Amino acid sequence: MKALVLSGGSGTRLRPFSYSMPKQLIPIANKPVLAHVLDNIRALGVTEVGVVVGDRAAQISEVIGDGSSMGVRVTYIPQERPLGLAHCVALARPFLGDEDFVMYLGDNMLPEGIVPIAEEFTARRPDAQVVVHKVADPRAFGVAELDADGRVERLVEKPSRPRSDLALIGVYFFTPAIHRAVAAIEPSARGELEITDAIQLLVAEGRDVRGSVYGGYWKDTGRVEDVLECNRRLLETLRPYAAGEVDAHSEVTGPVVIEAGARIVRSRITGPAIVGAGSVVEGSDLGPGTSIGRDCVLRNTRLTDSIVLDGASIADLPGLHGSLIGRNASVGASARHRLVIGDHTRIEVAA
Ligand code: TTP
Repeated sequence: MKALVLSGGSGTRLRPFSYSMPKQLIPIANKPVLAHVLDNIRALGVTEVGVVVGDRAAQISEVIGDGSSMGVRVTYIPQERPLGLAHCVALARPFLGDEDFVMYLGDNMLPEGIVPIAEEFTARRPDAQVVVHKVADPRAFGVAELDADGRVERLVEKPSRPRSDLALIGVYFFTPAIHRAVAAIEPSARGELEITDAIQLLVAEGRDVRGSVYGGYWKDTGRVEDVLECNRRLLETLRPYAAGEVDAHSEVTGPVVIEAGARIVRSRITGPAIVGAGSVVEGSDLGPGTSIGRDCVLRNTRLTDSIVLDGASIADLPGLHGSLIGRNASVGASARHRLVIGDHTRIEVAA
């Protein structure tokens, strides 16, 4: 089996981040989403991975390289424009050949892994197998209607009156039967080749399409709120250690990782939290759900439920919460508000 990871797209919901970095590289517990994805693929014993990349290809290959550090072999598949998930399958055809493959959206987090679902696919080998997850409000998702035996009877995109609460999430298993279906569909109203249309075509032809329920934690990291929630959730699973320096005037409680070369001075850190290599936290109070990247500087600041990317600095802010601070960004206090911010940036100032 091969893997196809989709890491192009436009990431409009994650602006302004997606202007400067692909959303698949946003760190969750100080590790890019895409690296979490590749870990899950490696856990299946799959090592041949095609990664579809868009205009941020250079940044992705800088971080992931040839995949060898993650135990996989990566082949990059450029996509000129985000023309849809099924378009990615068509582009990847030369890479995929006639092998079965798992298709994985590069911004989806399934920390419990997909090993049992992959085993189900291999054992039964239906024509296609979608992964579904129970959601509270299925109206925002592609929804699968399954029979009692787990066979997909119908896929409906964003139904106004859902007949099932099983949403399609970002992992699919395919046999080469998908290629003919992809070749037969037309672009949707939004101009994309939709993978749900291709799968629905297989269903309509009476092919064996099955749904497997993933019961673990799942997050599509498409929005800032999702990224932060997922970060907190993953931090809770980290094994705590302190390789960096914590001075005698600091207090560290709960599960906290302090990476080598980090320095904690006169500060309080309440886990789950992580402080990346080379960062300095001084006179500050870091609360649960906080990830600090590498080489950051935090002084006289109180911060909870936030992600600070590499090289950023924050000073003299007593109440930052739910924030995502970009690489090398600088945040500070002054008597009046003064903002230098990029396009589509969202700022909330305590008034
Ligand atoms: P989406 O999150 O559905 O799309 P997007 O990246 O354009 O984001 P937004 O809606 O915020 O504008 O894409 C799911 C995943 O698939 C994501 O990792 C990007 C990737 N993708 C491609 O690689 N090529 C494509 O043509 C599309 C549509 C998505």
